[in-house]
Amino acid sequence: MSNITVCARFRPLSSRERSNHGDSVCVHGIDTETFVFKDEKEEDFSFSFDRVFYEKSEQVEVYEFLVLPIVQDAVNAINGTIITYGQTGAGKTYSMEGPSVLECDELKQGLLQRAANGLFECIKSTEGSVKHTIKLSMVEIYMEKVRDLFDLSKDNIQIKESRVQGILLSGVTEIAISGPADALQRLSSGIANRAVGETQMNMASSRSHCIYIFTIQQELAKEKRVKSGKLVLVDLAGSEKVEKTGAEGRVLEEAKTINKSLSALGNVINALTCGSPGKTNHIPYRDSKLTRILQDALGGNSRTALLCCCSPSSSNASESLSTLRFGTRAKHIKASPRPLCNEDHYAKNHGASHATKDDSMERILNKMRERLDVEDVNLLEELFILEGIFFDPNSVEELDQAFEDVTTQTISALHQAVEDLLKRVNKALKARIAAAERLNALQTKAVENGNTNVLRKISDLLSLSISWIRSFFAF
Ligand SMILES: Nc1ncnc2c1ncn2[C@@H]1O[C@H](COP(=O)(O)OP(=O)(O)OP(=O)(O)O)[C@@H](O)[C@H]1O
Ligand SMILES: [Mg+2]
Repeated sequence: MSNITVCARFRPLSSRERSNHGDSVCVHGIDTETFVFKDEKEEDFSFSFDRVFYEKSEQVEVYEFLVLPIVQDAVNAINGTIITYGQTGAGKTYSMEGPSVLECDELKQGLLQRAANGLFECIKSTEGSVKHTIKLSMVEIYMEKVRDLFDLSKDNIQIKESRVQGILLSGVTEIAISGPADALQRLSSGIANRAVGETQMNMASSRSHCIYIFTIQQELAKEKRVKSGKLVLVDLAGSEKVEKTGAEGRVLEEAKTINKSLSALGNVINALTCGSPGKTNHIPYRDSKLTRILQDALGGNSRTALLCCCSPSSSNASESLSTLRFGTRAKHIKASPRPLCNEDHYAKNHGASHATKDDSMERILNKMRERLDVEDVNLLEELFILEGIFFDPNSVEELDQAFEDVTTQTISALHQAVEDLLKRVNKALKARIAAAERLNALQTKAVENGNTNVLRKISDLLSLSISWIRSFFAF
Protein backbone atom coordinates (compact mmCIF):
# COMPACT_ATOMS: atom_id res chain seq x y z
CA MET A 1 0.00 0.00 0.00
CA SER A 2 1.24 3.50 -0.79
CA ASN A 3 2.00 5.95 2.01
CA ILE A 4 0.85 8.98 0.08
CA THR A 5 -2.61 10.09 -0.98
CA VAL A 6 -2.24 11.71 -4.38
CA CYS A 7 -4.94 13.84 -6.01
CA ALA A 8 -5.00 15.96 -9.17
CA ARG A 9 -6.78 19.29 -9.44
CA PHE A 10 -7.53 21.20 -12.65
CA ARG A 11 -8.39 24.87 -12.16
CA PRO A 12 -10.75 26.68 -14.57
CA LEU A 13 -9.20 28.14 -17.74
CA SER A 14 -7.85 31.62 -17.04
CA SER A 15 -9.00 34.60 -19.13
CA ARG A 16 -5.46 34.91 -20.53
CA GLU A 17 -5.46 31.26 -21.63
CA ARG A 18 -8.87 31.74 -23.25
CA SER A 19 -7.87 34.87 -25.14
CA ASN A 20 -4.42 33.60 -26.22
CA HIS A 21 -5.17 29.95 -26.91
CA GLY A 22 -8.93 29.49 -27.02
CA ASP A 23 -11.01 27.00 -25.08
CA SER A 24 -9.05 23.90 -26.01
CA VAL A 25 -8.46 21.71 -22.93
CA CYS A 26 -6.16 18.76 -22.43
CA VAL A 27 -8.21 16.82 -19.88
CA HIS A 28 -11.28 14.65 -20.44
CA GLY A 29 -12.73 13.29 -17.21
CA ILE A 30 -13.94 9.70 -17.02
CA ASP A 31 -14.89 9.54 -13.34
CA THR A 32 -13.75 10.90 -9.96
CA GLU A 33 -10.49 8.94 -10.17
CA THR A 34 -9.61 8.58 -13.83
CA PHE A 35 -9.22 10.91 -16.80
CA VAL A 36 -7.67 10.94 -20.24
CA PHE A 37 -4.99 13.53 -20.92
CA LYS A 38 -4.15 14.76 -24.43
CA ASP A 39 -0.59 15.97 -24.88
CA GLU A 40 0.75 18.51 -27.39
CA LYS A 41 1.02 15.82 -30.08
CA GLU A 42 -2.63 14.81 -29.52
CA GLU A 43 -1.48 11.55 -27.93
CA ASP A 44 -3.81 10.20 -25.20
CA PHE A 45 -2.61 9.16 -21.73
CA SER A 46 -4.86 7.68 -19.09
CA PHE A 47 -4.22 8.71 -15.46
CA SER A 48 -5.73 7.44 -12.20
CA PHE A 49 -5.33 9.10 -8.79
CA ASP A 50 -6.99 8.73 -5.41
CA ARG A 51 -9.32 11.54 -6.50
CA VAL A 52 -9.48 14.01 -9.37
CA PHE A 53 -10.94 17.47 -8.84
CA TYR A 54 -12.11 18.98 -12.10
CA GLU A 55 -12.62 22.66 -12.95
CA LYS A 56 -15.94 22.98 -11.18
CA SER A 57 -14.77 21.34 -7.93
CA GLU A 58 -15.22 23.34 -4.75
CA GLN A 59 -12.56 24.04 -2.14
CA VAL A 60 -14.57 22.12 0.47
CA GLU A 61 -14.41 18.91 -1.60
CA VAL A 62 -10.62 19.06 -1.70
CA TYR A 63 -10.50 19.78 2.03
CA GLU A 64 -12.82 16.96 3.04
CA PHE A 65 -11.11 14.32 0.93
CA LEU A 66 -7.47 15.30 1.26
CA VAL A 67 -7.01 17.25 4.47
CA LEU A 68 -9.73 16.47 7.04
CA PRO A 69 -8.51 12.89 7.78
CA ILE A 70 -5.00 14.25 8.38
CA VAL A 71 -6.34 17.04 10.63
CA GLN A 72 -8.15 14.42 12.74
CA ASP A 73 -4.98 12.34 13.00
CA ALA A 74 -2.85 15.34 13.98
CA VAL A 75 -5.16 15.96 16.95
CA ASN A 76 -4.45 12.34 17.92
CA ALA A 77 -0.67 12.92 17.82
CA ILE A 78 -0.07 11.47 14.34
CA ASN A 79 1.97 13.81 12.17
CA GLY A 80 0.62 14.77 8.75
CA THR A 81 1.76 16.79 5.75
CA ILE A 82 -0.20 18.25 2.83
CA ILE A 83 1.74 19.48 -0.20
CA THR A 84 0.50 21.46 -3.21
CA TYR A 85 2.65 20.88 -6.28
CA GLY A 86 2.52 22.07 -9.89
CA GLN A 87 3.52 24.51 -12.59
CA THR A 88 3.47 28.23 -11.85
CA GLY A 89 -0.07 29.64 -12.02
CA ALA A 90 -1.64 26.17 -11.65
CA GLY A 91 -3.62 26.97 -8.48
CA LYS A 92 -1.40 25.82 -5.57
CA THR A 93 -1.70 29.01 -3.52
CA TYR A 94 -5.38 29.35 -4.45
CA SER A 95 -6.02 25.82 -3.14
CA MET A 96 -4.08 26.60 0.04
CA GLU A 97 -5.34 30.12 0.83
CA GLY A 98 -8.28 30.84 -1.47
CA PRO A 99 -8.29 34.34 -2.97
CA SER A 100 -7.21 35.75 0.43
CA VAL A 101 -6.79 34.22 3.87
CA LEU A 102 -8.77 36.92 5.65
CA GLU A 103 -11.16 38.33 3.13
CA CYS A 104 -12.96 35.75 1.10
CA ASP A 105 -16.41 34.23 1.13
CA GLU A 106 -16.77 30.94 2.92
CA LEU A 107 -17.18 28.93 -0.28
CA LYS A 108 -13.75 29.99 -1.52
CA GLN A 109 -11.86 29.51 1.74
CA GLY A 110 -8.70 27.49 1.18
CA LEU A 111 -7.25 24.42 2.87
CA LEU A 112 -5.42 26.57 5.45
CA GLN A 113 -8.48 28.32 6.89
CA ARG A 114 -10.44 25.06 6.82
CA ALA A 115 -7.62 23.15 8.52
CA ALA A 116 -7.39 25.77 11.29
CA ASN A 117 -11.17 25.55 11.83
CA GLY A 118 -11.03 21.76 11.65
CA LEU A 119 -8.35 21.55 14.34
CA PHE A 120 -10.43 23.60 16.78
CA GLU A 121 -13.57 21.60 15.89
CA CYS A 122 -11.75 18.34 16.60
CA ILE A 123 -10.35 19.42 19.95
CA LYS A 124 -13.77 20.73 20.99
CA SER A 125 -15.16 17.22 20.67
CA THR A 126 -12.49 15.76 22.98
CA GLU A 127 -12.60 18.49 25.62
CA GLY A 128 -12.81 17.49 29.27
CA SER A 129 -10.12 15.00 30.22
CA VAL A 130 -7.58 16.40 27.77
CA LYS A 131 -6.19 19.92 27.56
CA HIS A 132 -5.11 21.01 24.07
CA THR A 133 -2.75 23.74 22.96
CA ILE A 134 -2.28 24.72 19.30
CA LYS A 135 0.81 26.56 18.14
CA LEU A 136 1.62 27.92 14.70
CA SER A 137 4.96 28.47 12.95
CA MET A 138 5.46 29.75 9.43
CA VAL A 139 8.63 29.64 7.38
CA GLU A 140 9.51 30.07 3.74
CA ILE A 141 12.44 28.67 1.80
CA TYR A 142 13.64 31.62 -0.25
CA MET A 143 16.83 31.33 -2.31
CA GLU A 144 17.78 28.20 -0.32
CA LYS A 145 17.44 29.92 3.06
CA VAL A 146 14.77 29.13 5.63
CA ARG A 147 13.17 32.39 6.83
CA ASP A 148 10.88 32.75 9.83
CA LEU A 149 7.76 34.55 8.58
CA PHE A 150 6.86 35.59 12.15
CA ASP A 151 10.29 37.08 12.84
CA LEU A 152 12.18 38.27 9.78
CA SER A 153 15.40 38.70 11.78
CA LYS A 154 15.60 34.88 11.80
CA ASP A 155 16.52 34.64 8.14
CA ASN A 156 18.62 31.48 8.10
CA ILE A 157 16.98 28.90 10.31
CA GLN A 158 18.92 25.66 10.65
CA ILE A 159 17.29 22.30 10.04
CA LYS A 160 18.07 19.76 12.75
CA GLU A 161 17.15 16.13 13.13
CA SER A 162 16.29 14.41 16.36
CA ARG A 163 16.22 10.62 16.41
CA VAL A 164 13.11 10.85 18.53
CA GLN A 165 11.18 13.77 17.07
CA GLY A 166 12.43 13.77 13.49
CA ILE A 167 13.15 16.93 11.49
CA LEU A 168 13.07 20.18 13.49
CA LEU A 169 13.53 23.87 12.68
CA SER A 170 15.92 25.20 15.25
CA GLY A 171 14.66 28.29 17.10
CA VAL A 172 11.62 28.88 14.88
CA THR A 173 8.94 31.19 16.35
CA GLU A 174 5.89 29.32 17.64
CA ILE A 175 2.76 31.33 18.35
CA ALA A 176 0.01 29.95 20.56
CA ILE A 177 -3.34 30.21 18.74
CA SER A 178 -6.47 30.89 20.78
CA GLY A 179 -9.10 30.05 18.15
CA PRO A 180 -9.92 30.00 14.40
CA ALA A 181 -10.19 33.81 14.09
CA ASP A 182 -6.83 34.26 15.82
CA ALA A 183 -5.33 31.61 13.50
CA LEU A 184 -6.49 33.54 10.41
CA GLN A 185 -5.02 36.82 11.73
CA ARG A 186 -1.67 35.13 12.39
CA LEU A 187 -1.66 33.33 9.05
CA SER A 188 -2.42 36.56 7.27
CA SER A 189 0.40 38.43 9.04
CA GLY A 190 2.87 35.66 8.12
CA ILE A 191 1.70 35.49 4.51
CA ALA A 192 2.20 39.27 4.20
CA ASN A 193 5.93 38.61 4.77
CA ARG A 194 6.17 35.97 2.05
CA ALA A 195 8.14 36.63 -1.14
CA VAL A 196 5.69 37.16 -4.00
CA GLY A 197 6.39 38.62 -7.44
CA GLU A 198 4.69 39.25 -10.75
CA THR A 199 5.49 37.13 -13.79
CA GLN A 200 3.85 36.76 -17.19
CA MET A 201 2.26 33.51 -15.98
CA ASN A 202 0.96 34.69 -12.60
CA MET A 203 0.26 38.18 -11.24
CA ALA A 204 1.05 37.00 -7.69
CA SER A 205 3.56 34.23 -8.17
CA SER A 206 5.02 32.62 -5.04
CA ARG A 207 8.78 33.06 -5.20
CA SER A 208 9.38 30.77 -2.23
CA HIS A 209 8.16 27.47 -0.79
CA CYS A 210 5.94 28.27 2.18
CA ILE A 211 5.56 25.90 5.12
CA TYR A 212 2.79 26.25 7.72
CA ILE A 213 3.27 24.13 10.85
CA PHE A 214 0.49 23.62 13.39
CA THR A 215 1.63 21.78 16.51
CA ILE A 216 -1.20 20.30 18.54
CA GLN A 217 -0.25 19.36 22.05
CA GLN A 218 -2.49 17.35 24.33
CA GLU A 219 -1.96 17.08 28.04
CA LEU A 220 -3.29 13.90 29.55
CA ALA A 221 -3.21 15.04 33.16
CA LYS A 222 -4.40 11.73 34.65
CA GLU A 223 -1.74 9.69 32.88
CA LYS A 224 0.85 12.44 33.34
CA ARG A 225 1.67 12.45 29.65
CA VAL A 226 1.96 15.11 26.96
CA LYS A 227 1.42 14.04 23.35
CA SER A 228 1.81 16.20 20.30
CA GLY A 229 1.02 15.95 16.62
CA LYS A 230 2.12 18.16 13.75
CA LEU A 231 0.03 19.28 10.83
CA VAL A 232 2.25 20.69 8.10
CA LEU A 233 0.92 22.41 4.98
CA VAL A 234 3.36 23.14 2.18
CA ASP A 235 2.60 25.58 -0.64
CA LEU A 236 5.42 25.02 -3.10
CA ALA A 237 6.66 27.61 -5.53
CA GLY A 238 5.85 26.52 -9.07
CA SER A 239 8.19 25.11 -11.66
CA GLU A 240 8.53 27.50 -14.55
CA LYS A 241 9.86 27.70 -18.07
CA VAL A 242 11.75 30.95 -18.09
CA GLU A 243 10.80 31.68 -21.71
CA LYS A 244 7.12 31.53 -20.70
CA THR A 245 7.33 33.55 -17.47
CA GLY A 246 9.65 36.16 -18.98
CA ALA A 247 11.81 36.07 -15.85
CA GLU A 248 14.94 38.21 -15.73
CA GLY A 249 17.25 39.68 -13.09
CA ARG A 250 16.25 38.75 -9.54
CA VAL A 251 13.11 36.92 -10.71
CA LEU A 252 15.31 34.77 -12.97
CA GLU A 253 17.63 33.91 -10.07
CA GLU A 254 14.58 32.99 -7.99
CA ALA A 255 13.25 30.82 -10.82
CA LYS A 256 16.58 28.97 -11.10
CA THR A 257 16.65 28.26 -7.34
CA ILE A 258 13.00 27.16 -7.36
CA ASN A 259 13.56 24.81 -10.32
CA LYS A 260 16.70 23.42 -8.70
CA SER A 261 14.98 22.55 -5.42
CA LEU A 262 12.00 21.07 -7.28
CA SER A 263 14.33 18.85 -9.26
CA ALA A 264 15.96 17.80 -5.95
CA LEU A 265 12.44 16.87 -4.83
CA GLY A 266 12.00 14.85 -8.05
CA ASN A 267 15.32 13.08 -7.40
CA VAL A 268 14.24 12.15 -3.87
CA ILE A 269 10.95 10.73 -5.19
CA ASN A 270 12.89 8.78 -7.85
CA ALA A 271 15.30 7.39 -5.28
CA LEU A 272 12.39 6.39 -3.03
CA THR A 273 10.62 4.58 -5.86
CA CYS A 274 13.51 3.09 -7.82
CA GLY A 275 15.29 1.10 -5.11
CA SER A 276 15.32 -2.68 -5.36
CA PRO A 277 13.15 -4.37 -2.71
CA GLY A 278 14.93 -5.21 0.54
CA LYS A 279 17.87 -2.91 -0.30
CA THR A 280 18.33 0.48 1.30
CA ASN A 281 19.55 2.92 -1.32
CA HIS A 282 20.78 6.46 -0.72
CA ILE A 283 17.99 9.04 -0.66
CA PRO A 284 19.42 12.52 -1.41
CA TYR A 285 17.34 14.41 1.20
CA ARG A 286 20.32 16.67 1.96
CA ASP A 287 20.52 18.04 -1.59
CA SER A 288 18.09 20.88 -0.80
CA LYS A 289 16.44 22.58 2.17
CA LEU A 290 13.05 21.59 0.77
CA THR A 291 13.78 17.86 0.62
CA ARG A 292 15.44 17.96 4.05
CA ILE A 293 12.36 19.59 5.61
CA LEU A 294 10.08 17.12 3.79
CA GLN A 295 12.21 14.12 4.82
CA ASP A 296 9.72 12.83 7.39
CA ALA A 297 6.75 13.40 5.09
CA LEU A 298 8.37 11.58 2.14
CA GLY A 299 10.21 8.95 4.16
CA GLY A 300 7.02 7.57 5.67
CA ASN A 301 7.16 9.14 9.16
CA SER A 302 4.03 11.15 8.56
CA ARG A 303 0.68 10.81 6.82
CA THR A 304 1.15 12.63 3.56
CA ALA A 305 -1.16 14.01 0.88
CA LEU A 306 -0.10 15.54 -2.41
CA LEU A 307 -2.31 17.82 -4.51
CA CYS A 308 -1.03 18.02 -8.10
CA CYS A 309 -2.37 21.32 -9.46
CA CYS A 310 -2.68 21.71 -13.22
CA SER A 311 -3.86 24.14 -15.84
CA PRO A 312 -6.47 22.50 -18.12
CA SER A 313 -5.31 24.53 -21.14
CA SER A 314 -3.76 22.66 -24.10
CA SER A 315 -1.16 25.44 -24.20
CA ASN A 316 0.23 24.15 -20.88
CA ALA A 317 -0.11 20.44 -21.71
CA SER A 318 3.59 19.59 -21.43
CA GLU A 319 3.91 21.18 -17.94
CA SER A 320 0.67 19.54 -16.76
CA LEU A 321 1.87 16.17 -18.08
CA SER A 322 5.07 16.47 -16.10
CA THR A 323 3.11 17.40 -12.93
CA LEU A 324 0.85 14.36 -13.39
CA ARG A 325 3.85 12.08 -13.94
CA PHE A 326 5.38 13.44 -10.74
CA GLY A 327 2.14 12.55 -8.91
CA THR A 328 2.13 9.04 -10.38
CA ARG A 329 5.70 8.48 -9.22
CA ALA A 330 4.96 9.84 -5.74
CA LYS A 331 2.10 7.36 -5.49
CA HIS A 332 4.64 4.55 -5.82
CA ILE A 333 6.59 5.59 -2.73
CA LYS A 334 6.58 2.71 -0.31
CA ALA A 335 8.97 3.99 2.34
CA SER A 336 9.35 2.14 5.58
CA PRO A 337 8.17 4.37 8.39
CA ARG A 338 10.43 5.02 11.36
CA PRO A 339 8.03 5.62 14.22
CA LEU A 340 8.66 8.96 15.88
CA CYS A 341 7.91 9.44 19.53
CA ASN A 342 5.26 12.11 19.91
CA GLU A 343 5.20 11.90 23.66
CA ASP A 344 7.02 14.72 25.39
CA HIS A 345 8.29 14.63 28.88
CA TYR A 346 5.54 15.48 31.25
CA ALA A 347 8.38 16.07 33.67
CA LYS A 348 9.94 18.73 31.44
CA ASN A 349 6.73 20.67 31.41
CA HIS A 350 5.71 20.07 35.00
CA GLY A 351 8.93 19.90 36.99
CA ALA A 352 8.43 16.26 38.05
CA SER A 353 11.54 14.13 38.43
CA HIS A 354 10.77 11.18 36.17
CA ALA A 355 10.66 11.34 32.40
CA THR A 356 8.44 9.41 30.05
CA LYS A 357 10.41 6.89 27.97
CA ASP A 358 9.65 5.50 24.62
CA ASP A 359 7.60 2.30 24.53
CA SER A 360 10.31 -0.26 23.88
CA MET A 361 12.54 1.21 26.57
CA GLU A 362 9.66 1.16 29.04
CA ARG A 363 8.89 -2.50 28.22
CA ILE A 364 12.48 -3.59 28.78
CA LEU A 365 12.77 -1.67 32.04
CA ASN A 366 9.48 -3.11 33.32
CA LYS A 367 10.72 -6.65 32.62
CA MET A 368 13.89 -5.89 34.58
CA ARG A 369 11.92 -4.45 37.46
CA GLU A 370 10.12 -7.80 37.82
CA ARG A 371 13.43 -9.46 38.71
CA LEU A 372 15.80 -6.77 39.93
CA ASP A 373 15.93 -4.06 42.57
CA VAL A 374 14.40 -0.74 41.51
CA GLU A 375 17.68 1.02 42.23
CA ASP A 376 19.65 -1.42 40.09
CA VAL A 377 17.20 -0.92 37.25
CA ASN A 378 17.49 2.87 37.58
CA LEU A 379 21.27 2.58 37.46
CA LEU A 380 21.07 0.32 34.40
CA GLU A 381 18.71 2.76 32.72
CA GLU A 382 21.15 5.63 33.24
CA LEU A 383 23.99 3.52 31.89
CA PHE A 384 21.95 2.47 28.84
CA ILE A 385 21.19 6.10 28.04
CA LEU A 386 24.81 7.08 28.57
CA GLU A 387 26.01 4.30 26.26
CA GLY A 388 23.40 5.23 23.65
CA ILE A 389 21.56 1.88 23.92
CA PHE A 390 18.41 3.73 24.94
CA PHE A 391 17.63 7.24 23.78
CA ASP A 392 16.69 9.92 26.19
CA PRO A 393 13.52 11.27 24.57
CA ASN A 394 14.28 14.70 26.04
CA SER A 395 17.48 15.24 24.17
CA VAL A 396 17.28 16.90 20.78
CA GLU A 397 20.34 15.48 19.12
CA GLU A 398 21.93 17.47 16.46
CA LEU A 399 22.35 14.68 13.99
CA ASP A 400 23.63 17.07 11.34
CA GLN A 401 26.65 17.73 13.54
CA ALA A 402 26.92 14.03 14.40
CA PHE A 403 26.76 13.18 10.67
CA GLU A 404 29.56 15.64 9.91
CA ASP A 405 31.64 14.26 12.81
CA VAL A 406 31.24 10.69 11.59
CA THR A 407 32.11 11.74 8.02
CA THR A 408 35.26 13.56 9.17
CA GLN A 409 36.26 10.61 11.36
CA THR A 410 35.70 8.17 8.49
CA ILE A 411 37.79 10.25 6.07
CA SER A 412 40.71 10.56 8.50
CA ALA A 413 40.50 6.82 9.30
CA LEU A 414 40.69 6.13 5.55
CA HIS A 415 43.71 8.44 5.18
CA GLN A 416 45.41 6.60 8.02
CA ALA A 417 44.59 3.22 6.48
CA VAL A 418 46.01 4.27 3.09
CA GLU A 419 49.20 5.58 4.76
CA ASP A 420 49.62 2.32 6.71
CA LEU A 421 49.08 0.31 3.54
CA LEU A 422 51.69 2.35 1.65
CA LYS A 423 54.19 1.87 4.49
CA ARG A 424 53.58 -1.89 4.45
CA VAL A 425 53.92 -2.02 0.66
CA ASN A 426 57.21 -0.03 0.79
CA LYS A 427 58.60 -2.35 3.43
CA ALA A 428 57.61 -5.48 1.49
CA LEU A 429 59.02 -4.00 -1.69
CA LYS A 430 62.36 -3.14 -0.07
CA ALA A 431 62.60 -6.70 1.30
CA ARG A 432 61.89 -8.16 -2.15
CA ILE A 433 64.44 -5.87 -3.82
CA ALA A 434 67.05 -6.84 -1.21
CA ALA A 435 66.25 -10.54 -1.84
CA ALA A 436 66.49 -10.01 -5.60
CA GLU A 437 69.86 -8.30 -5.16
CA ARG A 438 71.11 -11.19 -3.02
CA LEU A 439 69.95 -13.66 -5.69
CA ASN A 440 71.65 -11.60 -8.34
CA ALA A 441 74.90 -11.73 -6.40
CA LEU A 442 74.57 -15.52 -6.05
CA GLN A 443 73.87 -15.81 -9.78
CA THR A 444 77.02 -13.87 -10.62
CA LYS A 445 78.97 -16.12 -8.28
CA ALA A 446 77.47 -19.28 -9.83
CA VAL A 447 78.37 -18.09 -13.31
CA GLU A 448 81.90 -17.47 -12.15
CA ASN A 449 82.01 -21.03 -10.68
CA GLY A 450 80.20 -22.62 -13.71
CA ASN A 451 77.41 -24.18 -11.47
CA THR A 452 74.50 -24.57 -13.99
CA ASN A 453 71.99 -26.27 -11.63
CA VAL A 454 72.16 -23.52 -9.00
CA LEU A 455 72.07 -21.01 -11.85
CA ARG A 456 68.71 -22.35 -13.20
CA LYS A 457 67.14 -22.28 -9.72
CA ILE A 458 68.27 -18.72 -9.11
CA SER A 459 66.98 -17.62 -12.49
CA ASP A 460 63.53 -19.16 -11.75
CA LEU A 461 63.39 -17.42 -8.37
CA LEU A 462 64.37 -14.12 -9.95
CA SER A 463 61.66 -14.20 -12.62
CA LEU A 464 59.13 -15.15 -9.91
CA SER A 465 60.16 -12.14 -7.80
CA ILE A 466 60.00 -9.78 -10.74
CA SER A 467 56.56 -10.97 -11.83
CA TRP A 468 55.35 -10.56 -8.21
CA ILE A 469 56.63 -6.96 -8.08
CA ARG A 470 55.11 -6.27 -11.49
CA SER A 471 51.73 -7.69 -10.52
CA PHE A 472 51.78 -5.63 -7.32
CA PHE A 473 52.06 -2.40 -9.27
CA ALA A 474 50.18 -3.70 -12.31
CA PHE A 475 52.69 -2.48 -14.88
N1 LIG B 1 -9.65 26.54 -8.55
C1 LIG B 1 -9.57 27.82 -8.93
N2 LIG B 1 -10.68 28.57 -9.13
C2 LIG B 1 -10.59 29.85 -9.52
N3 LIG B 1 -9.43 30.52 -9.74
C3 LIG B 1 -8.29 29.82 -9.55
C4 LIG B 1 -8.29 28.46 -9.15
N4 LIG B 1 -7.03 28.05 -9.04
C5 LIG B 1 -6.27 29.10 -9.37
N5 LIG B 1 -7.01 30.16 -9.68
C6 LIG B 1 -6.49 31.49 -10.09
O1 LIG B 1 -5.35 31.27 -10.93
C7 LIG B 1 -4.32 32.21 -10.66
C8 LIG B 1 -3.01 31.51 -10.32
O2 LIG B 1 -3.21 30.71 -9.15
P1 LIG B 1 -2.14 30.56 -7.97
O3 LIG B 1 -1.56 31.86 -7.59
O4 LIG B 1 -2.79 29.75 -6.93
O5 LIG B 1 -1.02 29.72 -8.73
P2 LIG B 1 0.26 29.01 -8.09
O6 LIG B 1 0.19 27.59 -8.52
O7 LIG B 1 0.35 29.28 -6.66
O8 LIG B 1 1.43 29.70 -8.90
P3 LIG B 1 2.94 30.08 -8.41
O9 LIG B 1 3.72 28.84 -8.48
O10 LIG B 1 3.39 31.07 -9.43
O11 LIG B 1 2.84 30.65 -7.06
C9 LIG B 1 -4.85 33.08 -9.51
O12 LIG B 1 -5.35 34.27 -10.07
C10 LIG B 1 -5.95 32.27 -8.90
O13 LIG B 1 -6.96 33.07 -8.33
MG1 LIG C 1 1.69 30.23 -5.44
